[in-house]
Amino acid sequence: MQNNLNEILQRATKEGWAVGHFNISNLEQLRAIMEAAKELKAPIMIGLSERERKAVGLKEAVALVKAFREEYGLPVFLNPDHSHSAESAKEAFDAGFDSVHVDLSALPYEENLRGTKEVVDYVNRRLASVSIEGELGYLRGESKIQKEKIEIKQEDLTKPEEAADFARKTGITRFAGAYGNSHGISIDEPALDIERIKAVRKALLENVAMVLHGGSGIPDEQIKEAIKAGIANIHVNTEIRVAFTEALRKSLAENPDETVPYKITPQAIEAVKQKVEEKLKLFGSINKI
Ligand code: G3H
Ligand code: ZN
Repeated sequence: MQNNLNEILQRATKEGWAVGHFNISNLEQLRAIMEAAKELKAPIMIGLSERERKAVGLKEAVALVKAFREEYGLPVFLNPDHSHSAESAKEAFDAGFDSVHVDLSALPYEENLRGTKEVVDYVNRRLASVSIEGELGYLRGESKIQKEKIEIKQEDLTKPEEAADFARKTGITRFAGAYGNSHGISIDEPALDIERIKAVRKALLENVAMVLHGGSGIPDEQIKEAIKAGIANIHVNTEIRVAFTEALRKSLAENPDETVPYKITPQAIEAVKQKVEEKLKLFGSINKI
């Protein structure tokens, strides 16, 4: 079993499949994702954004994933998704997260570069084998069902030469860019710029894996094309949240007198498990352990 995320992502890039990254904010979602990964023998990433980290707790997330890893015998990597400062990325790494995502993409280029490199140097001094993600380009939206149209502008999109310069100067091994993707389920069908993904893949060094954020609501055909073009890691949050919440609402409505939490949650766990299985099959990451 491969236990190094950098190696798994390089293999995925070469073989044309993608590692699924799924966000959680409770134990039920984590259990559902782990069940799906175990059943389909898929390496997996579990992500918590800064707010999700607040909800679960840093040490608590580390302990939970460690327990599942030991019990299920799976390559599972815990990622501090979209750390919006060097400090918050370092804090998660210090708490025992297996991977790092520092997202300073809202800052001017030079500041993004400096802050990302600061995190890479900090982490590498302590543990050289950690996979570290940096981000460049502007990703709109947030992980919910969007009520308003998201206008993606040409200037939001990642430029291949800048991506290569950024990755080389910072030393990251995962690169997240903007290719027409956005966070959340958008009103309009997204249109990924596949040629741009190919161009970024060509410009990056081989040891840098490409990440696609905002995986919810992107049609399957486009996901397949994106993987073919070089994407090796896909983030999904909103579809997980929606599956969980809708099933939970249904369960509460069907059992209005039930007050035992573990009797209300199984439907929600099953809904998340099915959604994750669907994505793992789509990403081609099954039977890769
Ligand atoms: O980092 C998290 C993902 O990019 C989630 O995006 O909510 O559109 O699935 P999503
Ligand atoms: Zn994201």
